[in-house]
Amino acid sequence: AVQRIVSASPERPDYVPNKISDPNYVRFFDTTLRDGEQSPGATLTSGEKLEIARNLHKLGVDIIEAGFPCSSLDDFEGVNNIAKVVGNDVDESRNGYVPVICGLSRANKKDIQTAWDAVSPAKRPRIHTFIATSPIHMEFKLRKTPDEVVQLAVDAVKFARGLGCEDVEFSPEDAGRTEPEFLYRVLEAVIDAGATTINIPDTVGICIPDEFGDIIAGIKNNVPNVDQAIISTHCQNDLGLSTGNSLAGAAAGARQVECTINGIGERAGNASLEEVALALHLRGETHFKGLYHGLDLSHIANTSKMVTEYTGMAVQPHKAIVGANAFAHESGIHQDGMLKNKATYEIMDPEKLGIFRKDDAGIFLGKHSGRHAVRTRLQELGYPLEGEELNEVFARFKKIAELRSGGMSDEDLVAIVSEKVFQS
Ligand code: KIV
Repeated sequence: AVQRIVSASPERPDYVPNKISDPNYVRFFDTTLRDGEQSPGATLTSGEKLEIARNLHKLGVDIIEAGFPCSSLDDFEGVNNIAKVVGNDVDESRNGYVPVICGLSRANKKDIQTAWDAVSPAKRPRIHTFIATSPIHMEFKLRKTPDEVVQLAVDAVKFARGLGCEDVEFSPEDAGRTEPEFLYRVLEAVIDAGATTINIPDTVGICIPDEFGDIIAGIKNNVPNVDQAIISTHCQNDLGLSTGNSLAGAAAGARQVECTINGIGERAGNASLEEVALALHLRGETHFKGLYHGLDLSHIANTSKMVTEYTGMAVQPHKAIVGANAFAHESGIHQDGMLKNKATYEIMDPEKLGIFRKDDAGIFLGKHSGRHAVRTRLQELGYPLEGEELNEVFARFKKIAELRSGGMSDEDLVAIVSEKVFQS
């Protein structure tokens, strides 16, 4: 049967910044409002950001990265507003769930102080500070030695903790191209300094899933104090591998995944929240040894639509889960299967994601459609044709459909039937 997607259990594990209270629970960190907004041209107003944050709260994301407060006054206000409103909206029906509100900062005091000023009104504020650790970034971008970078990272985390922030995330930017031994050294040092989450960015999207999984496994095995922090993934999509890399990271022990709605973000974007969430939802039990999350998937479609509308970033029709064609079927063979049993060509029920189609089986009538689908649609339109009559209408339909890239509408079908009735 079609996999029925139930909303996640309202029971979510208690939130402790650096502790996995349930070893199988994967936290979702949404960075649509920060990394997503860094998509060229995707600027959001602070009002739009607040609306999206409210939706992310309904969706049940664990951590909302609301912006980069030091980047502009407007971003500061946007983050601050979200911290005050969404960051205090406790949902008792979901085990006292309130999202962590996070602000990004470079590894310097001014950025960190500004991020703290922006997020501190939230019930669960987080500062996310980062510095690059790959040889190319340290030499050409930062012009710092590895020792200096370790010191800056440690000072940043200590400064953030010193402000009273109990939840500090540290990212070694470009971790995907960082020497493993140096990565372990930086991570051990920042955990000692008080980092509660260590986020591993594949900043340039160069990693292949088994390789990214090995990076996470290497961290688990080689950073002595790793149990005092949550490991997180942050995968860019330059090779189209961000979802696979995030899942490989979770399989190897990461318990936070950073994603964006519709996969928007710098260049080719980030891991798409809906893809990672659905993969865990459908395959968590069987493939990922019981991993699960706390998202209410019925809010996927409306959140996706809102992000599309506010950012102006259209989703390609064949995008997994939220693309217009993700639950549409054109070929006759597929349509016949769908009309008999939806599980023949669909692995999930779109209605459970808030996607409601015009017809029950997502039939798109076009050049590849078969008799079964055309007959069914005609019946729904009040023309129960059979035998020779149906053959003639179907033959005419095929002739016209071959010339139409946009498919055939109900009006087209009715016109063909009327033409036939009129002629006979
Ligand atoms: O892609 C990246 O490296 C980032 C970090 C700041 C996490 O966005």
